[in-house]
Amino acid sequence: MKRLAWINGAVCDLAEAVVPLEDRGYLFGDGVYEVIKIYNGKPFYLRPHLDRLQKSASGIAMEIPYPMEKIKQEIASLIENSACKGGYLYMQVTRGSAKRDHLLPGGTRPSMVMYVREYNSPATIEEIKPLNCITLPDERWLNCYIKSINLLPNVMARHKAADAGAQEAIFYRSGGTVTEGTRTNTFAVIDGVVRTHPESKLILSGITRMIALDLLDKLNIPVSEEAFNLEDLGKASEVWTTSTGMEIVPVVTIDKRAVSESVPGPICRSLIEEFWKIVEN
Ligand SMILES: Cc1ncc(COP(=O)(O)O)c(C=O)c1O
Repeated sequence: MKRLAWINGAVCDLAEAVVPLEDRGYLFGDGVYEVIKIYNGKPFYLRPHLDRLQKSASGIAMEIPYPMEKIKQEIASLIENSACKGGYLYMQVTRGSAKRDHLLPGGTRPSMVMYVREYNSPATIEEIKPLNCITLPDERWLNCYIKSINLLPNVMARHKAADAGAQEAIFYRSGGTVTEGTRTNTFAVIDGVVRTHPESKLILSGITRMIALDLLDKLNIPVSEEAFNLEDLGKASEVWTTSTGMEIVPVVTIDKRAVSESVPGPICRSLIEEFWKIVEN
């Protein structure tokens, strides 16, 4: 596979790709992004990712600098020219370059970059490494529905998780309301019902979350998009996370306490199997 980068229409080697020092993404974290999985050389659920990119950009009063149809074509050729069969495409749009000033610059054209990386997803359930998680107060802003490149609270929480020997941190807001993980949405089976935080400004509305909800519906498994708290999480019979990068991953411990005896639990297992059927098709 070739490691290529696409910068505002120009393609170069990823190792040689550069952006200007005064890009507002670099100076202020003034931008939004998407990560799109590539299976069998094709972008997975591209339309919802592009819709979310548009929503994120609107949330920070920024224009996407190319028409969506053009972006779709560019994505297809970047994946093809990279000869990527399995991996992900990272895409970032920043407000562009301007003299450093907090005030939004007038007339600056946003800058768009993309690149493709190889990534091998697990091929069997046994290959999936269940996650040890810790819980942490959600110290992010109140517009988490925007997929902003400002990820410092997520980065620091992930660092705390790693320090505690865990791979993910699950955030909670005041009153112990569980929102989501640093880079994943959180699902828990509580009293036989699958629960996940409802779509709101407090979570990123994950594409994998949406796929999981559709699959649970198809499997006739009871679901409630109703927020739950840390106490509920503590009595969950199954917990798992969803994300584009990691797909559906069961949680084995939370704050060092085992979630259940069998990991993945039966619902999570069926969900993973159904998810892989979509990927195969
Ligand atoms: C905070 C947060 N929540 C949830 C997700 C999962 O979203 P998706 O399934 O669209 O990858 C991500 C992915 O990056 C994330 O950063």
